[in-house]
Amino acid sequence: MIGRLNHVAIAVSDIAAAAKIYSGTLGAKVTAPVPQPDHGVTTVFVELPNTKIELLEPLGENSPIAAFLERNTSGGVHHLCYEVEDILVARDKLVAEGARVLGDGNPKMGAHNKLILFLHPKDFCGTLVELEQV
Ligand code: CO
Repeated sequence: MIGRLNHVAIAVSDIAAAAKIYSGTLGAKVTAPVPQPDHGVTTVFVELPNTKIELLEPLGENSPIAAFLERNTSGGVHHLCYEVEDILVARDKLVAEGARVLGDGNPKMGAHNKLILFLHPKDFCGTLVELEQV
């Protein structure tokens, strides 16, 4: 059911420093930082030939990644995003299999204007999973 790996998200406390590691040390192409106030994060995308890395820095008071960074002070892998063709079909199948969808269970418009939802890490090998409809 899941398709391509759309991105791996890494939470960081200093997105400029993280972008420099990817563009400088690792020699990758990175985008400029974009504040996403609706999502409580600032994002930078690292563009790789086969996927993307999404660097996330907390933005505002109630950032969804603040608690993660308190536990992982040097940053860390925050979630994996898999592509699906039809997010409602995927959601209904996963719920029928017993998986838990975070929030109210309905897809939301994500940072790239695509429908997304998040699945409970305890149901997926300890990893927060994002689904994105492509
Ligand atoms: Co993501």
